[in-house]
This record gives sequence, structure tokens and C-alpha cells, in this order.
Amino acid sequence: MARRLHLAQAMGAGIAIIPTAPERLRNRDAHYPYRFDSYFYYLTGFREPEAVLIVIAASDNNPAKQILFCREKDIEREVWDGYRYGPDAAREAFGFDEAYSINRLDELLPGLLADQSAIYTVLGQDTVWDQRIMGWTNRVREQARSGVTAPASIHDCCALLDEMRLIKDTDELQTMQRAADISAQAHQRAMQTVQPDMYEYEIEAELLYTFHRHGAQAPAYTSIVAGGGNACVLHYVENNARLRSGDLLLIDAGCELNGYASDITRTFPVNGHFSAAQKDVYQLVLAAQAAALEQVKSGNHWNDPHQAALGVLARGFIDLGLCRGSVDAVLESEDYKRFYMHRTGHWLGMDVHDVGAYKQQGAWRRFEPGMVLTVEPGCYIRPADDVPQHFWNIGIRIEDDVVVTQTGHELLTVAAPKTIAEIEELMQ
Ligand code: GLY
Ligand code: MN
Ligand code: MN
Repeated sequence: MARRLHLAQAMGAGIAIIPTAPERLRNRDAHYPYRFDSYFYYLTGFREPEAVLIVIAASDNNPAKQILFCREKDIEREVWDGYRYGPDAAREAFGFDEAYSINRLDELLPGLLADQSAIYTVLGQDTVWDQRIMGWTNRVREQARSGVTAPASIHDCCALLDEMRLIKDTDELQTMQRAADISAQAHQRAMQTVQPDMYEYEIEAELLYTFHRHGAQAPAYTSIVAGGGNACVLHYVENNARLRSGDLLLIDAGCELNGYASDITRTFPVNGHFSAAQKDVYQLVLAAQAAALEQVKSGNHWNDPHQAALGVLARGFIDLGLCRGSVDAVLESEDYKRFYMHRTGHWLGMDVHDVGAYKQQGAWRRFEPGMVLTVEPGCYIRPADDVPQHFWNIGIRIEDDVVVTQTGHELLTVAAPKTIAEIEELMQ
């Protein structure tokens, strides 16, 4: 409720219309597991499909108003699909001023839009929704001769909401910590379970088991379980190869708990022992991550961790014989991109790649307490003539979830073993 009032204040005047996500068919009569829209859930806590939130900003005579449109009670449908709140119970439980059946949206919305100065909604993501917004607006315009004024402007509300979502409150941080704890346990279980000759999907099953076992509703994104050279495919999700002794296994997996994502990557040896070459690359990525983490503090800007990681990696690539020349030359020519081609992190929240601007007025954004991000440097070495053969097919990424605090940062994902000693000990 506080968030809805905050939105009303940020709008100043006008009406916000925010729909939840549609249900999506997977094939024939089977649907994908339902996931609500993040903006809608952030403002309502309401998980059912077929719902729309209306927030009307306060005006001279009227306080701000919050209205929910949702599915009607329908005992017959509930026999098939389960409990639904219905407008009356939803209004009570979620603190709305009014609630109506979603079937009345077309009937009631033009009236709600009448004499509002502006519409705030999610624009450009769903053409059907954009058309409905225009349709309702035109219905109000048709009443102009009876003295009704239609909204003069339509704004994208995402910029306002993104700023709110970027700074996490205490409740959100608690949920994210719980999600991170579950994911860390899943990575531990993977390390303890893996044996040479198992298949990648057997390890994926252990991850999913752990997520659900502890109450997480879903993986926050498709798990990457990549043995050997598969780790050099950044978005590898086939997860169907046999794991070989002597190879590394890269796992990028995190659960979603109550709408919040976690995002952890760990890389460890299938047989429990790092080879000398694997150790060299692993220590380099770990050092790059430590340098990046050191830069995560209030006042530093978004690009500082990335630059710190690049500096360490470029030096290391030269020392390992992967790149040639000086650190400055490798950074300048971007030769490091042959082995490190992605950025060092992203905002994390309800969406794994969460909302929030990375730049403001053209300059990298500064860190503030309550922001949550990942720090995830890596190194991916494909076979090539000019690359020492003992490094071929080594792919390593180390990814943690980090909260910016008043004094620096806090790791949400410390429970996932990370040093070579910790990993080898757990895998004994
Ligand atoms: N798991 C997605 C990412 O690391 O960005
Ligand atoms: Mn990530
Ligand atoms: Mn990840």
C-alpha cells in the first residue's frame, strides 16, 4: 500500500493503469507455469492472473485512490483451477479502496479516465495492451461534447517504478537473503553430488530439488550446468552432456522466492581436484572478483567494479600467455574480450536482470545503500592455435549477489563455497 501511495505521489496527477502478466500457452491446452508481472506484484502482492491495478493520484478534492480489477469468485471454476480471491476478499486482504470484476474493466475504465490529466502505464511491451489503452482513451474523447476531458498525455510509468524498485527495502532484502541461502545450498549439494560420468541434467535435477525442497517457487532463470568446454558457451542450457573427470563444471543457477531472484555461479572440478592449469585460471578470476567487490560501495559508480576486474584479468591474461603486450595495450585494444566478453554484473531484484538505469544524464550511476547487484567476472578459453593447450576448454565464472550498504557492501551468497580450499574440502 505504501508503494502505491508513493507511486501516486511521484505521478503528482493522473491515473496509473498497470496490468499483471497474461497466462501463456506452452502447447495445445498446456500453459507455462504462471508468473505475475514484476511491476504489478511489486505494487500489489497479488499473484493471480487476469488482474489490473489502478492508482489515481490525489487531486484538490479527493485523496489518492487504489482500485483492483481481478477475477470474479466462481465456485465452479475453482473446482478446476483452485481458490481465487474475488474482488471483495482481495480488497480486504490487499488493502484496496475498491475492487471490481475484471469483466467490468471495459465498462468502468472510460469513467475512471474522464477528467484525468494523464495516463501512466506500461508502454510498448505488449501491443494488445497499448491498443486497449488507446481504445479506452478514445472512448473518453468521444464524450467531449458532454463536457468530459480526456487525458492529454500517456506516460510510461516504468521510469518511476524502476527508481523505486532499484532501492530495496528491509523486507525485500530479507527475501533476497532467503533466496540466496537456498541457492547457495543448491550449489553445495551439486558439489557434493557430482561424480565423473554423471550427466549435466542429473546435477540440474539436484539444483531444482533443492530449490523446491526449501519453498522456492521456480528457478529465477534457466539453470546453466556446463561441463568442460560447454562452459565457454555463455548461455549453454542443453545440460545433456556427460561429465568427464579432469573437466571443470560451471553452474549458473539461482531460485526465485516470493518474486525475488538469486543468481549464483560456481565453477568446480568434476573429480574434486583442480589441475594446475585450472587453478591458475581460477585464482585469476577469483582475484578479479575480489578487486571488483572492493569497488562496490556508496559513492563509487556502476562501472568501477567492471574496470577493476578488467585490470586484474588483463594482467593475468598476459602472465598466463593468453594475451601479449602491456596491460594498457590489452585494455585499449580490448584483446581481453577473446577470453572475457561480458560485463561484470547487473542489478538484481524481482527480475534477474533487474530494472534500474545504469547511467544518469550520460554518466555512470553512483552506488547507493539498498541497491543489489551481481559481481560475476569470468574467463572462457576456447581452443585456438595461439593459446597454450593446457588451458583449452577451461570456462570459469564466479558470481555473487551483493547489497550496497552505508559502509560498503554485504554478500548475500557467502554460503556458497568459493575458494579452491573450500571447494576441494567440501568435495572430498
Ligand atoms: N544468470 C544470468 C546472469 O548471470 O546474468
Ligand atoms: Mn548474473
Ligand atoms: Mn548468473
